[in-house]
Amino acid sequence: MFAVTAARFDADNPISGLELGDHAEPVPPDGWTTVTVRAASLNHHDVWSLRGVGLSADRLPMILGCDAAGVDEDGNEVVVHAVIGDPTVAGGDETLDPSRSLLSERYDGTFAEQVAVPRRNLVRKPAALSFEEAACLPTAYLTAFRMLFDRAPVGPGSTVLVQGAGGGVATALILLGRAAGYRMWATSRSEAKRARALELGADQVFESGARLPERVDAVMETVGQATWAHSLRALRPGGTIVVSGATSGPVPPADLNRVFFLQLSVVGSTMGSRDELARLLTFCSQTGTRPVIDRTMPLSQAVQGFTALIDGEVFGKVVFTL
Ligand SMILES: NC(=O)c1ccc[n+]([C@@H]2O[C@H](COP(=O)([O-])OP(=O)(O)OC[C@H]3O[C@@H](n4cnc5c(N)ncnc54)[C@H](OP(=O)(O)O)[C@@H]3O)[C@@H](O)[C@H]2O)c1
Repeated sequence: MFAVTAARFDADNPISGLELGDHAEPVPPDGWTTVTVRAASLNHHDVWSLRGVGLSADRLPMILGCDAAGVDEDGNEVVVHAVIGDPTVAGGDETLDPSRSLLSERYDGTFAEQVAVPRRNLVRKPAALSFEEAACLPTAYLTAFRMLFDRAPVGPGSTVLVQGAGGGVATALILLGRAAGYRMWATSRSEAKRARALELGADQVFESGARLPERVDAVMETVGQATWAHSLRALRPGGTIVVSGATSGPVPPADLNRVFFLQLSVVGSTMGSRDELARLLTFCSQTGTRPVIDRTMPLSQAVQGFTALIDGEVFGKVVFTL
């Protein structure tokens, strides 16, 4: 079958490690099943893998891709939950299983004609969502869903700042927060991306690092080092930063004086459970929310998709179809 793999690591030129071509079909172990992939979406995670972050050399070549929607062995339209973990070891939440992994870290991922996953990782795709739309949800949108609706102690009417409006998780945060009645503010370095964020439903947009008209209840962080100081300054006393990524670097100054004096909370968040993915799908059906797709292209053109993401040219998700 056709597949896109990480064949080697290159921290400076990640594209050079991509290989497109023939690969053996998966042989699902007991309790696993095979999905025929119809659409798969790209995440920054796939670029980290090519740089050698989160993937070990002894696992190469590895089929990349966390997200997919497709058809199961019985002909059902399904969405694949990307977290491979045991929900029974941590109170029903597989993301807390210490040995959990994401598809493409330990087991082959979704950038292929077929992917093998545990049977419980399949969630029915609502008919209202296309395969392309559904394929955007299991990583970026699920991460945003948990950040907003589980990890942040905020609710409808709260003011929430999203850093780096152009990213996949960031656009998901704006859309989901807006649909749930939050007042969503966003920053971006790019004027064009700020304009797009307003179109998506952001209430106000700001240049990265700009002074805000008032302090916010919560900040959603995926940028990391480049925006961390601003995130701390943006919070009202008692406010919360939810952090799920650090694209620009993971070790900013902690500014502990501000953290304790203003009684701020810093909360980590990673992916979401299978049940949250099912609720996210229902949320999209109920509210009419649909993921923002920057571009859709055949999987055979994966190099162009990776290049656009690495060059920061995308607003929303890059989707590969098969
Ligand atoms: N924990 C999890 O479960 C989870 C799940 C998904 C993703 N993530 C992580 O979350 C991060 C975001 O991923 P993503 O795929 O949504 O988007 P992404 O392509 O990594 O982009 C995030 C945004 O960061 C901003 N940015 C990047 N470098 C910057 C810099 N030097 N200064 C200021 N802003 C900068 C850009 O915003 P502007 O251009 O608009 O300024 C960009 O749109 C990644 O690190 C990813 O690994 C984690």
